[in-house]
Amino acid sequence: MTYAYPLLEPVSRPMPRRIGVVGAGTIGPDIAYYLKSALPTLELVLLDVRPSAIDAALARLRGYADKAVARGKMNADDATATLSGLTGSTDYGALAGCDWVIEAATEDLALKRRIFADVEARVTPGTLITSNTSSLPAARIFAGLARPERATVTHFFAPAWRNPAVEVIDWPALDRGVLAWLRRFFAETGKLPLVTSDAACFMLDRVFDNWCNDAALLLDSATAAQVDAVAQEFVHAGPFFVLNLANGNPIIIETNTLQADEEGEHYRPAPIFASVQQWKTAAPGQRIDVPPELATAVRERLLGVLWSQTVDILDRGIGSADDLDLGCRVALGFKAGPLELMEQAGDDAVAQVLRHYAARRPGMPMPQRPLADYRPTERHVLVDRLDDVVVITLRRPEALNALHDAMTDDILRVIRRHEADPSVAGFVITGYGTKAFCAGGDIGRFVDMLGDADASAQYARDCSRLLVHLDQMTKPVVAALNGIALGGGFELASRCHSIVALKRAWIQMPEVTLGITHGIGAMAVPYRRWPHAAPTFNAMLRTAERLKATRAHELGIIDGIAEDVDHLVAMAVARARELAGKVRPIGDGPVQVSIDPVEARAASGQVLSRECIELMERSILEAAAAASFAEALEVGYRSFGLSACLDSAREGITAFKEKRTPDFSKTK
Ligand code: COA
Repeated sequence: MTYAYPLLEPVSRPMPRRIGVVGAGTIGPDIAYYLKSALPTLELVLLDVRPSAIDAALARLRGYADKAVARGKMNADDATATLSGLTGSTDYGALAGCDWVIEAATEDLALKRRIFADVEARVTPGTLITSNTSSLPAARIFAGLARPERATVTHFFAPAWRNPAVEVIDWPALDRGVLAWLRRFFAETGKLPLVTSDAACFMLDRVFDNWCNDAALLLDSATAAQVDAVAQEFVHAGPFFVLNLANGNPIIIETNTLQADEEGEHYRPAPIFASVQQWKTAAPGQRIDVPPELATAVRERLLGVLWSQTVDILDRGIGSADDLDLGCRVALGFKAGPLELMEQAGDDAVAQVLRHYAARRPGMPMPQRPLADYRPTERHVLVDRLDDVVVITLRRPEALNALHDAMTDDILRVIRRHEADPSVAGFVITGYGTKAFCAGGDIGRFVDMLGDADASAQYARDCSRLLVHLDQMTKPVVAALNGIALGGGFELASRCHSIVALKRAWIQMPEVTLGITHGIGAMAVPYRRWPHAAPTFNAMLRTAERLKATRAHELGIIDGIAEDVDHLVAMAVARARELAGKVRPIGDGPVQVSIDPVEARAASGQVLSRECIELMERSILEAAAAASFAEALEVGYRSFGLSACLDSAREGITAFKEKRTPDFSKTK
C-alpha cells in the first residue's frame, strides 16, 4: 500500500459495469443492494442454486428501496435506477461478461472451491474474484485458481448495505494493483476498506468470535442477560443479544474450531454453544441486576479477551491499530475501540486485567511489547506524503468525519510533527469518503455539556487549539472540500489558508437548527476574511442557508473548483506549494458589520428559536467590534457556552439524537 488514504492511490482499472454475486442468502442480497445503490447503472446478477432464494432476495431489495423512498433517504427515480439492471439466475453462464464476481455462499471450504472453479471457467482472465468468507484464509480458498492474483477476500459486515466496514485481505499472491483498486473502489462507494493479513478469521472476527466465546465461558457464574448488561458498558448490544439476532452459534462454533485447530486448544468453542439455540437475554438498555462483584469479574474477563486479541492482532501484523479501533466501532458496535479503552484505563490497570485473564485462560495471547507501543500515533486521521506536501485525511466515517477535541488534537499533532521539516512545503486537509469533508462538531459530545456554560465554552476553546495554531502558521494549509462542510467543518476550512472544493460540495452552518451558536470561529472569522460576503454569512448563520461551492468560488471564499477527487487533490497540493512564503494572518482589528432583522425560520422552512438567533446576532456584532482577533474568538467560545444553557439547545440536541425535527415553538 502506497497511501493510507485509498483515494490517493492512482488506479488504471475502470469502474465495473457488470458484477455477479453468488449466493442469495443473507448477506449476498445486502451486498448487491449496496453496489446497486452506489452505482445505479451497474448490471448486477444474483446467482443461487435455489430459485426461491433469488425471488426472496429480489423482493427484499425492492423492500429496501421502498423503505428508503418512504424515509426520504432516496428519491423515486434513484430507487427505480437502483432496482433496474438487477437480475437473478441459477445458471453460472450468467456470470459471463462480469468484471467482478463476489461469492457470498455458505462457510464451507470445499463448496467455495467448487464455486470458484465454476466461476473461473466462465469469466475472463481479468475478472476480479472475491469471497465474503468471514474466516477462511484466502490462500486456502483460492489455492486451485489458475489466476489467483486477481482473487481475494472482501469481508462485509451486517447489514452489508449500510455497515461501511469491509475487510480486504492482502495475501501473498494478490496483485498490488488489485488491492489498490479494491481499496479505492470501496472508499469511492461509501465503504471503509480495512486491509488485513490472511490469518484465519482476519481481524474483526477474531475480536467478535472470541468476545462471544469468552462470554459463553462465563455462563458458569453469570446469566446471559447479566453478561450482556455488563458488556453494554463497551458495546451497543451484548454478545448474546447479537448472537440471537444473527442466529450466530453455528458460526462461532465453526470459526473458533478453525482457530483452535490452527492456533491451539484455548480457542476451542465453549461446549454450551452446541446445546443452546436462543439465549435468554434482555434488549439493550433494559435494567438487569448484576451484583457488583460479579459485574467486576465479567467486566475484567471481557476486557481481558478484548485486549488479548488486540495485542495478538497487532503483534502478528494482522491489522493496524487505528483500523482495529475504527473497525471495532463501525463494524462491531463498540462505543470506543480497544486501544482507546486501554488508554482510558491506563497501563497498570490493563496489565492487571491481562494478568488475571492469563491465569483464567492459559494459552491466550499476551503482550509481547510494552503496552504503550501498541497505541496508534493518530486515531482519527490518516497521514500521507505527496512529495513535499503532507495530506491529512479526517477519518470518522461513522459520523461523517465530525470533529471532536481528540480529532483536532490528532490534526495538530501531525502538523507539529512536520511543520519544522524543511522538506515539507505545506499541508492539505481533506475528508475520508465521498460524502463529507466534515459534518461539523460532534453533536454526541454536546449532550453532556447542556446547561453548563463554562464547560461548553472550555470545550470550544479546547477544540480551537488546532485552529489558533493554524492562525499562527507560516507554512500553508489548504482545505480540500471533498463533500459537505458543515458547522465546525467550515470553521476548520475557514482557518486554512486556502480552500478548494469539488464542484458538488456545499457549505452550511446548521447550528441554529440545533438551537446553539457557533463555537469555534464562524461568528468572527468569515467577517474578517471575506467582509464583502457578510450578508451571505448573516443568512447562513441565522437561517442555515446552504452555500454551493460554485457560489462560494464566485464570492472568493473558495479558490478553486475541481471536477473529481484526483483533480481536487492535485489542485490542493499545487495551491499549498503556490502559497509557500505568502501566508497572511487573519486581520486583527475590529470590522464593520451590520445585521438586518430576519424571520426565525430556517431556509428549509423549519421554525427556529428567536432567543438563539438574538444571541447569535449579539455575538456577531460583539466579535466584529472586538479590539483583537483573539478577543473576537473568545466572544464565540462564550456565546457557545451561553447557548448551551438555552432551552433551544436542549430541544435541538435531543431532537438530533432522537432523529426527529426539533420543535422550537415551545422555546423562546
Ligand atoms: N455529529 C455527530 N454525528 C453526526 C454528525 C455530527 N455533526 N453528523 C452526522 N452524524 C452521524 C449521524 O448521527 C449518523 O449516525 P448513525 O448512523 O449512527 O445514525 C451518521 O453520521 C450518518 O448521518 P445521517 O444523518 O444518517 O446521514 P444523512 O445523509 O441522512 O444526513 C446530514 C447527513 C449531514 C444532513 C445529517 O447527518 C446532519 O444534519 N448532521 C448534523 C450536521 C450539523 O448540524 N452539524 C453542525 C454541528 S455543530
